[in-house]
Amino acid sequence: MARVRVGVGDGYDVVVSEDALADVWLALAPRKRVGLVSQAGVFEHHGAAVIGSLDRAGVEVIRTAIGDGEDAKSMATVQQLCRLWAREGLLRGDAVVALGGGVVGDTAGFAAAVYHRGIAVLQCPTTLLAMVDAAIGGKTAVNLPEGKNLVGAFHQPVGVLADVSTLATLPDREYRAGLGEVAKYALMDDAIDDGGIARILAEQRAAVEGRDVAALTDLVTRSAAIKARVVTADPEERTGLRATLNYGHTLAHALETVGHHDLHHGEAVAVGLVFAGALAAAMERIPVAAAEDHRTLVAGLGLPTEAPGLPAGDLLAVMRRDKKASGGLTFVLQGPYGLESIDDPPARALAAAFAAVGIDS
Ligand code: GLY
Repeated sequence: MARVRVGVGDGYDVVVSEDALADVWLALAPRKRVGLVSQAGVFEHHGAAVIGSLDRAGVEVIRTAIGDGEDAKSMATVQQLCRLWAREGLLRGDAVVALGGGVVGDTAGFAAAVYHRGIAVLQCPTTLLAMVDAAIGGKTAVNLPEGKNLVGAFHQPVGVLADVSTLATLPDREYRAGLGEVAKYALMDDAIDDGGIARILAEQRAAVEGRDVAALTDLVTRSAAIKARVVTADPEERTGLRATLNYGHTLAHALETVGHHDLHHGEAVAVGLVFAGALAAAMERIPVAAAEDHRTLVAGLGLPTEAPGLPAGDLLAVMRRDKKASGGLTFVLQGPYGLESIDDPPARALAAAFAAVGIDS
């Protein structure tokens, strides 16, 4: 079992273990009522562990299953949750438990942020992507028809229970997509992690592929430690440090939007990392060999390195609307001083980066 501290507000722990869900009651004590938010499929596999833990401690559970996919991450779902909690009398001192991947964590987290002007939320991520990223750091949001994550709030959880045994039931594509976000951490500044994530991915390939609990505990803990460190230093993305967690994400979000979510988020991040590496090399911020390392890492994890067929013009238009952009195009890129936000790269460098991921421009 590993524990990573996030030092924001009162602070909270990310607990990483193969039976973390057994301790849901402990993370919520002494509360006696919770709203448990999940999805039918997730609940089928992991609901019993959570309910069992809460039952043993005599905690009353108000249970809701929300829909699957990005469509469920909506204001309508938030209203549905809040109305149910109001009918059931969930109070300010009670709590919400989010059991699932990013859709559940973001939606339940945002509902918890606004219900009674803020009620405690315990994040129990059941996907690799959510364990290493979405569940940590208090970003919550839902989508509007106009775009992803447009309505949200910073609402730090009271704890994060990353039970790596839940990853055994993830569909292969979803598990692998989570490795895209892990690859991001591997490519972030070595000074933060000492290169440990890249080493595990390279040297323990079979264990990672086989979802070995020890390897996963190590990978999730190291990734969570990077995220915790960055979030602790810049909780509300004001200094630019937290924005570096979006390495590879500017193109990734555009690929998801323009490609109508044909690519999973982690797959889009994988392509976005290759793009960011190529863009940095084309701007002579890093050597070409370092950009090739991005491709080698991503390809070695069985993730896509290209996204051919999507029009560069549409991708550029979406990237200009990115909420991190300051009017033009903004990318997080490696360089001599580590990761930095870079505005409006030259057209020639952009064309080279698009070509590196199989996109004509
Ligand atoms: N997923 C990026 C962040 O939490 O800031």
